[in-house]
Amino acid sequence: KEKPQWNDFLHIDDFDKATIMKMLDRAAEVKALLKSGERVYLPFKGKTMAMIFAKPSMRTRVSFETGFFLLGGHAIYLGPDDIQMGKREETRDVARVLSRYNDVIMARVFAHQDILDLAKYSSVPVINGLTDYNHPCQIMADALTMIEHVGQLEGTKKLQVVYVGDGNNIVHSWLLLASVVPFHFVCACPKGFEPDQKTVEKARRAGISKIEITNDPKEAVRGADVVYSDVWASMGQKELHFELNLSLIDSNWQVDEQLMKLAGPRAYFMHCLPAERGVEVTDAVIEAPNSIVFAQAENRMHAQNAIMLHALGL
Ligand code: CP
Ligand code: NVA
Repeated sequence: KEKPQWNDFLHIDDFDKATIMKMLDRAAEVKALLKSGERVYLPFKGKTMAMIFAKPSMRTRVSFETGFFLLGGHAIYLGPDDIQMGKREETRDVARVLSRYNDVIMARVFAHQDILDLAKYSSVPVINGLTDYNHPCQIMADALTMIEHVGQLEGTKKLQVVYVGDGNNIVHSWLLLASVVPFHFVCACPKGFEPDQKTVEKARRAGISKIEITNDPKEAVRGADVVYSDVWASMGQKELHFELNLSLIDSNWQVDEQLMKLAGPRAYFMHCLPAERGVEVTDAVIEAPNSIVFAQAENRMHAQNAIMLHALGL
């Protein structure tokens, strides 16, 4: 295998701040071009991408496939029954075979080790489309959305992102972003559902962001620029989190209008989607004018276009 490590996009903190910011600038640039209706910029012309999905998806699948096509390439969807990675065939074999046909591999898997193995054995760039541990493409799209709406991504006193819910893969990617870009990140989660301790420590050790983990959502949201929510039970964890679901409903961890009022008038609501309306968030909060969830979803495509351009050295 002869690819440099920066080729892969596995964790946000694999990159320094300048590279992350450059990717976000690029995302905005190519977004403007695509929005203008311009279809002559075709950097992926003649290139193919294999997309492995061990889990369901709407945004990740459609945004990657559409983005790669609009910039001239061809993407191949491989659903949960097609490859059956690790079951029908070993991950290291999948990586080496797909590398011989394709210029880039995007994968959504269960175990984080699977994406690490794909990257290890593949000779082409591997992009992480979500694992049980993290979801870096989502947080890049969220960063782009915050720059567009809040006006900035940086500043421990100026930018406060408050996540409310299960300390899951989305939280890990927020923490890893906070290891590279300085801001104030608060994760309010029920006792026993805190994010991975090592990842929290990593973000704290980086020493650039203010990191708080708390069990009090009402206190946490005060003064937030962004209140962020996600499903209480992630894909593959529905049964594991059954009790959490019940306890969260009982103890009122739902992001509702009252909680948004506590956050204050300037707070935006964000959610990576899909959302379970009436569970982790109310319908009214998603539909409110300060909800930017669909802007986030749209930006998946633009952020990922920039990630792919970077991975392919274009
Ligand atoms: N946010 C996100 O990754 O959505 P999908 O699961 O639909 O891809
Ligand atoms: N935490 C969620 C994110 C979905 C995009 C999950 O892993 O299911």
